[in-house]
Amino acid sequence: KTFNVAVVGATGAVGETMLSILAERKFPVGHLAVLASERSAGEQVTFGAKKLTVQDLATFDPAGIDIALFSAGGAVSKAYAPKFAAAGAVVIDNSSAFRYDDDVPLVVAEVNPEAMRDRPRGIVANPNCSTMQMLVALAPIHRQAGIVRINVATYQSVSGAGRSALEELGRQTAAMLNFQQHRPDRFPVQIAFNLIPHIDEFMDNGFTKEEMKMVWETRKILGDDSIQVNPTAVRVPVFYGHSEAVHIETRDKITAAEARALLERAPGVEVVDERTAGGYPTPVTHAAGTDAVYVGRIREDLSHPHGLNLWIVADNIRKGAALNAVQLAELLARDAA
Ligand code: A2P
Repeated sequence: KTFNVAVVGATGAVGETMLSILAERKFPVGHLAVLASERSAGEQVTFGAKKLTVQDLATFDPAGIDIALFSAGGAVSKAYAPKFAAAGAVVIDNSSAFRYDDDVPLVVAEVNPEAMRDRPRGIVANPNCSTMQMLVALAPIHRQAGIVRINVATYQSVSGAGRSALEELGRQTAAMLNFQQHRPDRFPVQIAFNLIPHIDEFMDNGFTKEEMKMVWETRKILGDDSIQVNPTAVRVPVFYGHSEAVHIETRDKITAAEARALLERAPGVEVVDERTAGGYPTPVTHAAGTDAVYVGRIREDLSHPHGLNLWIVADNIRKGAALNAVQLAELLARDAA
């Protein structure tokens, strides 16, 4: 059995990776429609050995599409995902448009795949990249020892803000190395050789929306509204791969050795924790271009008897977005078989 698939946002940083992961994992694709705005209609994108022509989403007829992977921003999802669902497709949406709706499941493939089955609106939401990688690593610990509280600081690469953000970091870095000025455009201040403690918009409580996503989504995915999450989200001048310094407090004591053993068996996780120079994951040496969530620096909190510290790194475009979306499509395909 094959599935007719649409990729919405096919020219974007996430969309093009969705196409390459569909090809890599040999997803049973029947017809494949690649969609974007009228700006790039007529351009070509790569799917395995093939070139496909981009079509304008606004004039595309979704009839016959079985699975639609959306990654073109929240406004596009809000406007078009219901139309695809009404035409009979299951929409896997990478934007935050539907994530907090009770009748839309929010699914990490390794954590809560069973939640996929109940999708009354025909829409399944793909979580935020930072929450995604954090929960692949924390869910096994939560099941074993009960996580009560999560303190997390993120170090998020620019690719999470799309292709134009990748270009801004590149151009700005080159300009500065040539003693030239480069005015910020995609970021509010200079990103080259800098850090920015601001991702997405500010909320009334002083947190940014990116930070609140980690609070809301962690509770929804783990199905536990009592978990306390205290995040700080920071943009760093890295192209691909988000890193997180994560400090958890558990109901039951779990030692660093127990946590390491648990994580070594956890699906989607690779432990890199040698306690030597280079024996820890970084975005460049481990994560970029790969599928795993890497965990290192596992150690017990000196300041809390039930505290544990971890360093979690993953490719935000792959596991944080495109790979998980394709894994969810694979779950649909398996159920339909
Ligand atoms: P386009 O190339 O036509 O602008 P990124 O996150 O890397 O910036 O990518 C965003 C993706 O979403 C691109 O593929 C972009 O297509 C697509 N997109 C943006 N706005 C729209 C729109 N109004 N309709 C369809 N696709 C859109």
